[in-house]
Order: sequence, then structure tokens, then C-alpha cells
Amino acid sequence: MSDEIIVLKDVCYKYEESSHNAVDHVSMTVRRGEMTAVLGRNGSGKSTLVKLINGLILPDSGTVLTDGMDTQDDEHVWDIRQRAGMVFQNPDNQLVATVVREDVAFGLENTGVPSTDMPERIDAALKAVNMTDFAERAPHLLSGGQKQRVAIAGILAMRPDIMLFDEATAMLDPRGRKEVFETVRQLNREGMTVVWITHFMEEAAQCETVHIMHDGGLVLSGTPQEVFSDRERLQNWRLDVPPMAALAQHLRAAGVGLPEGILSIDDMTREVEALAAHL
Ligand SMILES: Nc1ncnc2c1ncn2[C@@H]1O[C@H](COP(=O)(O)OP(=O)(O)OP(=O)(O)O)[C@@H](O)[C@H]1O
Ligand SMILES: [Mg+2]
Repeated sequence: MSDEIIVLKDVCYKYEESSHNAVDHVSMTVRRGEMTAVLGRNGSGKSTLVKLINGLILPDSGTVLTDGMDTQDDEHVWDIRQRAGMVFQNPDNQLVATVVREDVAFGLENTGVPSTDMPERIDAALKAVNMTDFAERAPHLLSGGQKQRVAIAGILAMRPDIMLFDEATAMLDPRGRKEVFETVRQLNREGMTVVWITHFMEEAAQCETVHIMHDGGLVLSGTPQEVFSDRERLQNWRLDVPPMAALAQHLRAAGVGLPEGILSIDDMTREVEALAAHL
């Protein structure tokens, strides 16, 4: 098994009605088991990128290899869609059944999984997103975060190798957002490869790799520390640093002796405690 589970080589894609490439000469790789964030302002090509990865659309030029399979290869279409599951922004559009358990079963019913194997898969998927107790509930009575976790379970039941999240927390309140992000982070710790599109810098800060898209191109890739080290550079692409990084920068400018590289509340807490210990 290759270590590089997603490989894009010089990929271009243009929508028929459009005059410019939505994805423009993008080359990137995602390592197996990695959690990768994709950032970029509205219209920069993020959604198009993940649709290319799971073969919903095919490149005009260049190559997309998903789990070693060329998305242009007709025989791999269904395999790729199953192995690279997608979760979207609006949980309501993704839930179809009147009972949570049936909802999780829905995707499986079209995949040829024997019906005798389904209960076990559904139980495992609900457990993985911590929704076991809600199996018999009506999806429309759940909170946004819970609905989104059911949508994730529906994909998980198909046992994908990769999960692609297109702003999966954008419509949730802060609590739901945290709940869903933590669930996905945990799935990733257990081995799932994750591509996480987001507008929330603090989420990107918790991923292993961050890619920035701008006008269809991939303009910067690196660790969160590398990517968020230069606030001015990020502003070129209409992006900001995570809130704690911005606060650290303000405090440094005011003479507080905080180091570079603070991205999260945990980082900040640690550094402030270290400062306080020296007072
Ligand atoms: N169905 C479509 N037909 C024509 N053009 C499209 C279509 N979908 C997207 N585009 C265009 O392709 C470009 C990339 O769009 P895409 O949706 O991939 O961006 P995005 O980064 O996901 O944006 P957002 O943050 O708003 O979701 C934009 O210029 C957009 O207007
Ligand atoms: Mg989008």
C-alpha cells in the first residue's frame, strides 16, 4: 500500500459555463492516515478539489489518483466513491430516513453489502460517532451537531479509507462544531485519512497539514506552524491566522514575552503559565 493515498498531478478543471479554471494546475499529495485542512476564500476551488478527489467530476488535464486508482478509469468509479466518502455542509440535506438507524443503513443498501452484515456495520458506525443511544430516534429532532454525526456514520458504515468534509461545521453552533470536529479528529487518530475544508482557522490549526487555495491554485502547503507564521502573507489570500495566534502577536507587540508558534488555547495556556511561573 502506497503511503500517498491521494495524489493530484497538475490537475485542471473548468466548469462548462465558466471562463476560468476552478482548479488550476494543482499538484498535491495526502499521506495515508493524515488529517489535512484545505483553506481558501470563497470561490477559490476547495469544493471542486474534493469533488475531483472522489471522482464526482473528472479533470480536464492532469491526473487524480485516489487510493492508487485513476479517477478517469471507468471501472473504478464506484470503488472510488465508496472509498472516499463525502460529508457536506448542510446536515438536513444529507438525512433521508425517519429513524437514525435507517438513515445510516441507507447508503449501504446501494453498495451490495449483504443484509446480514448491515446491523453490525451500522452499530459500529453509530458507536464511532457516539450516537448509539440515538439509533431509534427521529433525525429531525436532533441538534445540528448530532445530525452531522449521523451523516458521518452513514458514510462510515461503508468503511471508507478517506473522508472528505466540505465545510461540515459551517452551519453548526460552536458546541456542534466542536462536537463534530472532535469526532472526526478521533476517527483520524484511529487511522482515517481526512481532508477537512474549513473557514475556521482554529480547526485548520489542529490538522497535521494545511493547504491554501487561491483562484483555483494551490498557493501554500505546510504544517499549521509554517502556514500561520506570516499574517501579512495570509492576508494576500483574504485569510487570517487562528484567533490565539493573533492574540499572541498583539501581546508580543505590546512587549509580552510570548514565543512564536502559538496556535491554540492549549498553546496559549501553556505559555502564559510558563510566563507566570517566572514572575
Ligand atoms: N456548477 C458550477 N458551474 C460554474 N462554475 C462553478 C460551479 N461551481 C463552482 N463554480 C466556480 O468555480 C470556482 C471554484 O468554486 P468552488 O465551489 O470550488 O469554490 P470554494 O472554494 O468551494 O468556494 P466556497 O468557499 O464559497 O465554498 C468559482 O469561481 C465558482 O464560481
Ligand atoms: Mg465550497
